[in-house]
Amino acid sequence: MTEVDQQYLEKIKDEHMALGRKISRFRRLVESRATPEELQNALIDLKAELAEHFELEEEGGYFSDAVEVAPRLKGQVDRLLAEHTELLDIVGELLVQSETCQDDDEAWKKFHAHAIDFVKRQAGHERAENSMVQEAYERDIGDKD
Ligand SMILES: [Fe+2]
Ligand SMILES: [Fe+2]
Repeated sequence: MTEVDQQYLEKIKDEHMALGRKISRFRRLVESRATPEELQNALIDLKAELAEHFELEEEGGYFSDAVEVAPRLKGQVDRLLAEHTELLDIVGELLVQSETCQDDDEAWKKFHAHAIDFVKRQAGHERAENSMVQEAYERDIGDKD
């Protein structure tokens, strides 16, 4: 590799695991129809953590280095970057929705569907990143020998 720091990649991997646990906790709160306050606290926490994680990926070279090593991944990388904005927007929407999510069954249904959709998209995003990194580094390293 190229110049990507193995430690940095490990850190991202660890963050993916930690984020995965937070997302699972949030999902459990949603499944158990927690109070708006509990949901809001979890979402505020999640939003801060996600923003920090995305920043680490965007500024630390996670994507730019991958494209440098494997230019064929550019389209995929651009999509993943665009998803950062989308995912943060969704958390913002969920935060707003959470204030009234227990008002009636209709509001709850809407919030629940949106929240579960977010959980799935977030998991898909991290999965795609993990395989992008694998594809960029492991294969290209292998190719070089
Ligand atoms: Fe990401
Ligand atoms: Fe990530």
